Amino acid sequence: MNQFSFPHYLLAKQSVDDRALNQHVLSELKARLPQRPARIIELGGGIGSMIPRLLRWDVLSQAEYVLVDEMPENTGYAADWIPRWGTELGLEVASPAAGQFEVQDSARRVGIQLVTDDIFHFIQQNPQPADVLICHAVLDLLPMPGSLQKMLCLLKPGGLAWLTINFDGVTSLEPAIDPELDRLIEHLYHRSMDERPTGGDSQSGRHLFGHIHAAGGRLLAAGASDWVVHAVDGKYPHDESYFLECILHFFDESLSGHPQLDAEKFASWLAARRGQVARGELVYIAHQMDFLVTR
Ligand SMILES: C[S@@+](CC[C@H](N)C(=O)[O-])C[C@H]1O[C@@H](n2cnc3c(N)ncnc32)[C@H](O)[C@@H]1O
Repeated sequence: MNQFSFPHYLLAKQSVDDRALNQHVLSELKARLPQRPARIIELGGGIGSMIPRLLRWDVLSQAEYVLVDEMPENTGYAADWIPRWGTELGLEVASPAAGQFEVQDSARRVGIQLVTDDIFHFIQQNPQPADVLICHAVLDLLPMPGSLQKMLCLLKPGGLAWLTINFDGVTSLEPAIDPELDRLIEHLYHRSMDERPTGGDSQSGRHLFGHIHAAGGRLLAAGASDWVVHAVDGKYPHDESYFLECILHFFDESLSGHPQLDAEKFASWLAARRGQVARGELVYIAHQMDFLVTR
């Protein structure tokens, strides 16, 4: 892999997420969206991939969209990228102030505000409450159920929380290299998610049913949103070979130097997996879950 870049990882992840997002949960969201312009807050929104996705999928038409992410690298990328995807979607793009954008055509208008901040610091500022809260590939990184309880306070009564791509305990890499070592690496990788000092849960999906209830949410819909990445005729679609290299980078970052792993065996395992990606052989599946919740 050329150098790892988080914004590039999030760009490459888009097509994988497009296929994964649970359509039943999404149609329940669409059916309940307010008719008037919606105020939407996305927490941990990265480079803002969700906004053009929701415009392409006709979910967004009139909205004020606040995107919060703590990484300036991500919000900085989002600021450069909005004019490019806006133009590609045939929208006029204006930027009335730093970090603020308006994308529109005759039928649609979305105001976008980019906020570089910690989610919980942002919540403490008592922002104007939202009709829709989005947390996409974020909740499995945070301590639960306290984080969810604080996040749901951002919703107006009756507002909707769309909580998507929550990892749920299954990683599958095929074909096997050494079944025993494969199992050990998967086990240690999941444990590293459970032991992150900032929070996280490798079985976040199944546990969210209880956490939603404990946080005072009412579950409206749930379903699987598994990532399934494979080559077609030896080639991965879009930028998904980079996405797979990033997944292997996360294994490397989380497990290098682990006392339960032989360093040489782990290094050759990683090299073998990278070879599988280069030849279009690796099939990667991660089980995840989506939820729609109201307060
Ligand atoms: C896996 S990424 C997902 C990004 C985006 N939702 C997407 O899928 O393209 C998780 C994001 O959450 C952000 N994040 C994690 N903890 C955060 C916190 N406490 N405050 C703000 N952002 C946070 C990270 O900076 C990162 O961009």
